Amino acid sequence: MGIIETHDLRFVYGKGTPFEKVALDDVSISIEQGEFIGVIGHTGSGKSTLVQLLNGLLRPASGEVLLGGNDIWAKPKKIRNVRFEVGLVFQYPEYQLFEETVYKDIAFGPTNKGIKDKEELDRIIRTAAEFAGLKESLLEKSPFDLSGGEKRRAAIAGVIAMQPKVLILDEPTAGLDPKGRDRILDRIRAYREKTGSTVLLVSHSMEDIARVADRVLVMNHGKVEMFDQTKNIFKHGERLAEIGLRVPQVTQVFLELKRLGADVRTDVYTMEFAKGVAMDFLKRTEAAPGIPAEKPAVSPAGTLREEARPDDTDATEGGDAQ
Ligand SMILES: Nc1ncnc2c1ncn2[C@@H]1O[C@H](COP(=O)(O)OP(=O)(O)OP(=O)(O)O)[C@@H](O)[C@H]1O
Ligand SMILES: [Mg+2]
Repeated sequence: MGIIETHDLRFVYGKGTPFEKVALDDVSISIEQGEFIGVIGHTGSGKSTLVQLLNGLLRPASGEVLLGGNDIWAKPKKIRNVRFEVGLVFQYPEYQLFEETVYKDIAFGPTNKGIKDKEELDRIIRTAAEFAGLKESLLEKSPFDLSGGEKRRAAIAGVIAMQPKVLILDEPTAGLDPKGRDRILDRIRAYREKTGSTVLLVSHSMEDIARVADRVLVMNHGKVEMFDQTKNIFKHGERLAEIGLRVPQVTQVFLELKRLGADVRTDVYTMEFAKGVAMDFLKRTEAAPGIPAEKPAVSPAGTLREEARPDDTDATEGGDAQ
């Protein structure tokens, strides 16, 4: 049994109106305790709808969400408790911040969860703020006076302060500079390692997903397109492209090499791993060259040469796809 599961989940916006829209259909997934799940999909594929169903902000039209084996809507009056256990950082954090000060905002979750002791509460708030990389000097400010990145950190701190069993972040790195993005990702990863909690990260960035996810859920038009280990997902470059996604750039390079006939593996999706695979490939090709040296597939800048792509080869998945 997974910590969180869905069975035949369906959700419809504006039911019975001319704007009726089936946002999710037939979604059945199971996520184990402690897993780090990446969620990807084109715009409008249903990612935000799904995560709002997982924490009980939206109620399914049909189907179930199970938390620890129990239907979260079995007792609708208790749905608030689910929101403490399944913490969601919204795609647009400004919708999440509403108190006079950032401090009070972060205090909201733990207070409502029942933490009364002022000192304990203070410790939780400051730890969460530090964890989210929020400067202490910002705690007494109004959340509305923060920059976009600071608002995001404040929202993350507010959710982490509830110490949820399942932490869900909907596009937490959107709008951040690369350094800010790396920091947030590192902190989320550290949080997961420290607490053993389950994490779902919704992102448009394949590079981010590749760096952190154990498994990846790919959504397409409200349905589950793929749900598999990260290394298996990125072998399906062609299919991902068809549904408006792309594999990480480093994976693209290896898929192209394979397309050109090189004997390389294609389940390469981080730079560190790529280095080892590339070295191994080079060693082997020194003995038996695969790709003609006068026509390299990859330019020194790392971009693929159009003219190096033969038209008549079957692309992408090589023999590795499952
Ligand atoms: N409040 C709403 N009312 C009506 N339709 C909605 C509403 N919110 C979302 N939708 C529609 O439901 C579908 C799924 O939307 P959702 O926001 O879940 O997609 P998403 O995958 O999170 O997209 P994005 O990557 O742009 O954030 C889309 O077709 C969207 O237009
Ligand atoms: Mg969304």
